[in-house]
Amino acid sequence: MRTRFIVGNWKMNKTASEAVAFVRELTRQVTDCSGIQVGLTPPFTALHAVRETLGPASTFLLGAQNLYWEDTGAFTGEISGAMLKDLGCQFVLVGHSERRQQFGDQDAWTHKKVLAAIRQGLQPILCVGETLQDRDSGQTDVVIQRQLRAGLAGIGTPALEAVTIAYEPVWAIGTGRAASTEQAVPVHRMIRRTISELGGSDTGRRVRILYGGSVTQKNIADFLVSEEIDGALVGGACLEPTSFATLIQVAIGSHPTTA
Ligand code: PGA
Repeated sequence: MRTRFIVGNWKMNKTASEAVAFVRELTRQVTDCSGIQVGLTPPFTALHAVRETLGPASTFLLGAQNLYWEDTGAFTGEISGAMLKDLGCQFVLVGHSERRQQFGDQDAWTHKKVLAAIRQGLQPILCVGETLQDRDSGQTDVVIQRQLRAGLAGIGTPALEAVTIAYEPVWAIGTGRAASTEQAVPVHRMIRRTISELGGSDTGRRVRILYGGSVTQKNIADFLVSEEIDGALVGGACLEPTSFATLIQVAIGSHPTTA
């Protein structure tokens, strides 16, 4: 049984003091994440403050939005997995489409970042997804399989089982136009088949695959009716404590009814 995982992707939002106020309110509204995991990814500058506010025993997991693949060295402006681990992070996003499109993160880099995360004991969430052009030209599977095979190359079990995949169609991110469950489910199945090819069918069954792209408290239940969808990576709807708390409560109460 895969534990469902709801992750808030804060992107470049909230100062450290705004982050603390947000976390205080969120943890006032959500005192128990029973049965699911919930992750927060503040910007680097707020990680320490959020860790302190959550406390060491919090049920909320702390993650970062990116990392560099070397542990230390002359890499001006970069943050290593070792530094994130030291701040109390438990997971890290890798290869988000905004990184790929605006900051040049290529498949070869996502691979090194996934390896660095695993080396540091951070759970990587590898983000994959097609553009509208890819989808319209029938390239969705080709593009996503390339992202998966490159990002996960040579990673055997059990390390592969620590990886979570986030399927995020680029056309659905920040657009208010979420994929339908009927669009997402076949892609989730294809991702799981690819993971099974890479790491065997047991690993394929254990890896979590999240959906991301315009998920809100209103549509989260539509995704979680499918047992193919193990949770969500949520951008815009995670920034306000009451809407994110509602989304979490809906997720806690949602159980798969279809394959
Ligand atoms: P969105 O972002 O929920 O605002 O579409 C999702 C993401 O980029 O992870």
